[in-house]
Amino acid sequence: MTQPLRLGIAGLGTVGVGTVKILRRKAALIEARCGRPVTISAISARTRGRDRGVPLDGYAWEDDPVTLARRDDVDVFVELMGGADGPAKAATEAAIAAGKDVVTANKAMLAIHGQALAEAAEAAGRVIRFEAAVAGGIPVIKALTEALAGNEITRVMGVMNGTCNYILTRMQSAGLPYQAVFEEAAQLGYLEADPELDVGGIDAGHKLALLASIAFGTKVAFDAVELEGIQAITIEDIKRASDMGYRIKLLGVAQMTGRGLEQRMSPCLVPKKSPLGQLEGGTNMCVIEGDAVGQIVLRGAGAGEGPTASAVVGDVMDIARGLRISTFGQPAAQLADAAPAHSASPAPYYLRMTLTDKPGALARIATVLGEAGISINRMRQYDHEGGRAPVLIVTHKCTRVALEQALAAMPGTGVLESAPVAIRIEEV
Ligand code: HSE
Repeated sequence: MTQPLRLGIAGLGTVGVGTVKILRRKAALIEARCGRPVTISAISARTRGRDRGVPLDGYAWEDDPVTLARRDDVDVFVELMGGADGPAKAATEAAIAAGKDVVTANKAMLAIHGQALAEAAEAAGRVIRFEAAVAGGIPVIKALTEALAGNEITRVMGVMNGTCNYILTRMQSAGLPYQAVFEEAAQLGYLEADPELDVGGIDAGHKLALLASIAFGTKVAFDAVELEGIQAITIEDIKRASDMGYRIKLLGVAQMTGRGLEQRMSPCLVPKKSPLGQLEGGTNMCVIEGDAVGQIVLRGAGAGEGPTASAVVGDVMDIARGLRISTFGQPAAQLADAAPAHSASPAPYYLRMTLTDKPGALARIATVLGEAGISINRMRQYDHEGGRAPVLIVTHKCTRVALEQALAAMPGTGVLESAPVAIRIEEV
């Protein structure tokens, strides 16, 4: 019999348990496809005695994931604990130092320490695989590093936080305000222990930074991601954007511009009828554009036991088959330092404001936009109430700098009843 590939799995939460279940239930299929068995030698988790709905007594137990990572009977350390630092990082470093390959679902750890970990792994002749870290079951890392490797990638986009997409689509469908849907999501158990990771765009920003590194051959630069969460999105904007033919999504966009690498994770308007506009509930979508392939759209479950464990097992099977690809698709030491470009690419913007209902009010706003070089594409006024005039404007493409110049000048017009809302429209 060919030598088995022996795993040490640290972390027995949803994803860890899902991984053990697939490895047990599909052992014959996995062996047939890899040409060798994949076995579990040892496991580790915070609490030992808990019934996790899957038999674990056949595996050695380690209290300390670092000890697990160093075991002689472990070939691949499977890190499913999470957390950017602490035990996850310590055990991953220990595994690499002990000559093990690593499979992880840990986006936070890789977004912050990925460059150092990848360099250490490659210096030791080891691989780190992380399909499960980005968009759960969607094979977007494999798409970028393997199937599309012959393309120059021009843009990567994604809705990569299912919780935010659930909140935004539920606000839309039920007409509920943000706070009510946030509380509903909390009750359904959709939110991370620290909800800011979800609604603040941090989790999705980690994922975008990882994709950008592979797409553009640059060092992971999470700090350079322009992050904005969904907390300020109002039901008013959801409804008004819909009136103008758009949906609001927490959208990640990475593209290389003449000024450097632009990485944004922020609420954007996308056309209702586009694939991203039609994405409902907790589902994720990744859109990749390559010079040869054109546009690829990948859609699927971005979280959950089965989908995320599916990605972990796929990575483990690649290692069992002998597939060894650099963590970010090319040797980590050769990745470039990309200059960060902040919202360099021009875009149309959606502007919502309430004006004082008096002659010349709209003309003053139009003048301010014109003076900043911003042209109006579409405009709509709603019923005036109590001397207040709600106005929506969709601009032609303009730069963020021009938009900020206009927004800064607007209070000086003396016709604003409240601060204007501005949201980028992404052409998808
Ligand atoms: N909290 C994430 C989401 C799942 O809602 O998509 C894991 O990244």
